[in-house]
Amino acid sequence: MRPREELAAIARALTSHASHLQRIGTTVLPKGSRLSPEHATRLEMVEQQVIACTRCPLYRTRTHPVFGDGSAQARLVFVGEAPGREEDRRGKPFVGAAGQLLTKMIEAMGLRREEVYICNVLKDRPPNNRIPQPDEIEACRPFLLEQLAIIRPAVICTLGSIAAKALLGPAVSITRVRGLRHEFDEIPLIPTFHPAYLLRNPDAKKLVWQDLKLVKKLLEKSSSTQQ
Ligand code: URA
Repeated sequence: MRPREELAAIARALTSHASHLQRIGTTVLPKGSRLSPEHATRLEMVEQQVIACTRCPLYRTRTHPVFGDGSAQARLVFVGEAPGREEDRRGKPFVGAAGQLLTKMIEAMGLRREEVYICNVLKDRPPNNRIPQPDEIEACRPFLLEQLAIIRPAVICTLGSIAAKALLGPAVSITRVRGLRHEFDEIPLIPTFHPAYLLRNPDAKKLVWQDLKLVKKLLEKSSSTQQ
């Protein structure tokens, strides 16, 4: 890169980093934070790659890509399936009916939505909310892996079958793996049902609440071992 282009690239990275800090509600990183400015910039850079992505045809039909939302320093990351209509319209994950339920679930755990991080396996909406295709998942998965590698939360909670399969392998069955402690890249991972499933099957809320209690216990355990 020529010096002028290099300076322009640094300026772009700093501007996007500043807007990221503004979005997560801070201009100064907390003392002792696990997240260096370099990490925040890396997350921004992955978002730029998603915006420019043409690895699968979904970029042609989406309105907005939906990268992720919440704290880049989150100790808990929720991973859903793919943006729906409302998410595609607003460019944010879980802002429709299932998202409202997810927010309630997070609050029932004693957390605020802003302090966790929420993202999806697919960053673009499949037309008419159809099930993500294996080649779309394969194309988009590296972005999710990057997000998790940068944030490195204490716990990951996957929502529904597609997210569990994306991180634990295509052979897993959500009904068998849910509520059990798994690991992804040495991070505890608890799969649970998708909030959209709970809207159709409210009886399953009891099981999800058990799973979320386990997530909470793991979060508490990890913060006590960190001190
Ligand atoms: N369902 C998902 O899996 N993700 C969203 O962002 C919204 C609904």
